[in-house]
Amino acid sequence: MSGPNDNFDPKQVAALSAEAIDGFVADALAAVGAAATTAELKQVRLLHAGDKSPLALANREIGALPPAARKEAGARVGKARGRVTEAIVTRQDELAASEQAAALIAERVDMTLPVDLHPQGALHPVTSLIDEMCDVFVAMGWEVAEGPEAEGEWYNFDALNLGPDHPARGEQDTLWIEPMGSGKLLRTQTSPVQARAMLTRDLPLYIVSPGKVFRADEYDATHLPVFHQLEGLVVDKGISMADLRGVLDHFAQAMFGDVTTRMRPHYFPFTEPSAEVDLQCFVCRGESGPDKPCRTCRSEGWIEWGGCGVVNPRVLQACGIDSEVYSGFAFGMGVDRTVMFRTGAPDLRDFVEGDIRFSRSTVVGGNR
Ligand code: DAH
Repeated sequence: MSGPNDNFDPKQVAALSAEAIDGFVADALAAVGAAATTAELKQVRLLHAGDKSPLALANREIGALPPAARKEAGARVGKARGRVTEAIVTRQDELAASEQAAALIAERVDMTLPVDLHPQGALHPVTSLIDEMCDVFVAMGWEVAEGPEAEGEWYNFDALNLGPDHPARGEQDTLWIEPMGSGKLLRTQTSPVQARAMLTRDLPLYIVSPGKVFRADEYDATHLPVFHQLEGLVVDKGISMADLRGVLDHFAQAMFGDVTTRMRPHYFPFTEPSAEVDLQCFVCRGESGPDKPCRTCRSEGWIEWGGCGVVNPRVLQACGIDSEVYSGFAFGMGVDRTVMFRTGAPDLRDFVEGDIRFSRSTVVGGNR
């Protein structure tokens, strides 16, 4: 390459002639005009305005000219480079604008198109029914109370008048939490929430408590080791079995339409007197018999629903309530069973298999 002190070499500096420079400019402008995209224009910029472009090389040759010729050549090259740069900038703006406009059209989102949503889940029928059951009571001004699934032995048994040697303790196939003797278990019933409510809430008490319960039970079409109960408890002044009966009838009708309930004497340690509550069969309405069989109630006209009774004064006392002043009633029933009644779902194992088709097709609402 020529340095400023080299001798003037007419051949070497021919690149600085006006025709040569005009030729470079013409080539450059043609290439700029032909560039159809900003990417192509980038290449044009490299070739015609970059360090190795003819105009840049010509610029370097200026130093080889005799001092008197440098000014004019410098002006010519400078002007030529200016024209090329300006053309590139203008074209760049044009191309960028049209590319952006094209992108706006190509990437336009039609907000009115139907969206391909991910498949939606479904509420489990037990969850839906628990919500619906609670609504029945909340509508009467009751509160929903919850308690822990891993429960203390005292709440699950002792407070409910099931002392350490009570025979009914053994009937519930309790799942104990290790180490043995820790006094902790998986609650076998929602009844311990009664004790928790009596100990922590102000009187009068009107609560329902839905939730999971656990028993070392079979796993078959009619048994699950984990199932759901709904517990109800009222503690107030002047409460009697008649109030219980009225509430159960109202609840049964909210769940099953125009049916009645009946009570059969039974024994529960936490209620006295106690009863089992049966629903009038909501399919045959109690009209089945040997000549008119009903599968739902096995032609008995009644279906076992839950347990209930007047709260045993010993339970009130264990929870610090004056049983001379207050009385109450309680009841408890299986939610999973109630889903079966409401929907005809035949097999409890379907309840825990986790197949969304079961949840979708087992609709508890709307068949009253
Ligand atoms: N806890 C009982 C059970 O699991 C059901 C029950 C019966 C609840 C009578 C009650 C009641 O509140 O009063 O079998």
